[in-house]
Amino acid sequence: MDIASASPRCYFFEVMSVFATAEHEKERLQYFASPEGRDDLYQYNQKERRTVLELVPPLKTRAFSISSSPSAHPNQVHLTVNVVSWTTPFKRKRAGLCSTWLAGLDPQDGVYIPAWFCKGSLPPPPASIPLVLVGPGTGCAPFRGFVEERATQDMSGAAAPIMLFFGCRNEENDFLYKDFWLSHAQNAGPLSIARGGGFFVAFSRDQPQKVYVQHKMREQSEWVWDLILEGASIYVAGSSTKMPSDVMSALEEIISKEAGVSRETAVLQLRRLEKNGRYHVEAWS
Ligand SMILES: Cc1cc2nc3c(=O)[nH]c(=O)nc-3n(C[C@H](O)[C@H](O)[C@H](O)COP(=O)(O)OP(=O)(O)OC[C@H]3O[C@@H](n4cnc5c(N)ncnc54)[C@H](O)[C@@H]3O)c2cc1C
Ligand SMILES: NC(=O)c1ccc[n+]([C@@H]2O[C@H](COP(=O)([O-])OP(=O)(O)OC[C@H]3O[C@@H](n4cnc5c(N)ncnc54)[C@H](OP(=O)(O)O)[C@@H]3O)[C@@H](O)[C@H]2O)c1
Repeated sequence: MDIASASPRCYFFEVMSVFATAEHEKERLQYFASPEGRDDLYQYNQKERRTVLELVPPLKTRAFSISSSPSAHPNQVHLTVNVVSWTTPFKRKRAGLCSTWLAGLDPQDGVYIPAWFCKGSLPPPPASIPLVLVGPGTGCAPFRGFVEERATQDMSGAAAPIMLFFGCRNEENDFLYKDFWLSHAQNAGPLSIARGGGFFVAFSRDQPQKVYVQHKMREQSEWVWDLILEGASIYVAGSSTKMPSDVMSALEEIISKEAGVSRETAVLQLRRLEKNGRYHVEAWS
């Protein structure tokens, strides 16, 4: 389509006015599309040789969690990116713009990637605080960084343990960072039982019924509660729209069962944890 050289017609402004969300922009576009605005449109549009490309908004930025620790990889930032693709009801293949572009890059080409850093919603935890981390799929991204960081902190004194719940579809196909998690779950690593930590994985499609991270959490109910009593912070990250609320509901169940309180009291306790900065969620769809 000729979006970079053809000058848009009056109809373009009329259509754009339907989609404009800011009232002053809507009014201006409607004015340009009206007979009264014809002269002004000529001055603004044709005379200036404006193009459609110039008039549409720039691409929106995409956020990615940093999945490496600055101590383990100084001057590097690792990302864990899922290549988004799906089939529409009319069987057309669609692909995510940014993730597909990233996946097609060749590091040898030295392509410049414009990137910014901004503070996320998961604050870096101090080494002394035990952690319960829940990150299915690409939700494990920030927690790879957390585990790496803690493994580095271990070298300069005993850091607190981590319980990590990871989930994916199949053990064979998408068990992200398998060797990394398993190695840190051994030899007194931050995820090792010897240190009071643990690594638990739910393969959702390796058996007829679904197994999710929250099922694994319920299996470790007593242990999760012990770690909360020891002052653990809970972090949840991932892409599923339902996952964060399902995980929260599993935690309410765990608190209710292990503390022997009603569900309503468990809900209040979880809310208090959130208020005290001990429950964090970063979710995307
Ligand atoms: C705080 C934050 C952290 C994030 N961290 C990560 C991360 O660590 N790793 C990661 O991979 N992503 C992460 N994301 C998501 C990431 O920002 C992008 O949204 C994602 O990579 C898709 O971008 P894209 O340009 O490839 O897809 P786009 O071109 O933007 O397309 C995505 C859109 O396609 C549509 N779509 C996608 N799948 C389907 C489907 N099955 N059916 C119908 N429509 C569909 C939806 O409208 C969706 O919004 C994060 C997002 C946020 C907000
Ligand atoms: N083609 C592939 O092989 C493939 C593989 C991975 C990802 N993807 C694409 O990538 C997108 C995002 O990927 P992702 O890796 O971040 O996440 P994801 O694959 O969508 O999910 C990760 C895991 O979370 C499970 N899950 C789904 N609903 C949940 C819930 N309510 N509570 C707890 N766990 C839940 C999923 O199980 P179920 O999906 O079995 O329900 C899966 O095991 C997906 O939407 C998909 O389009 C494709």
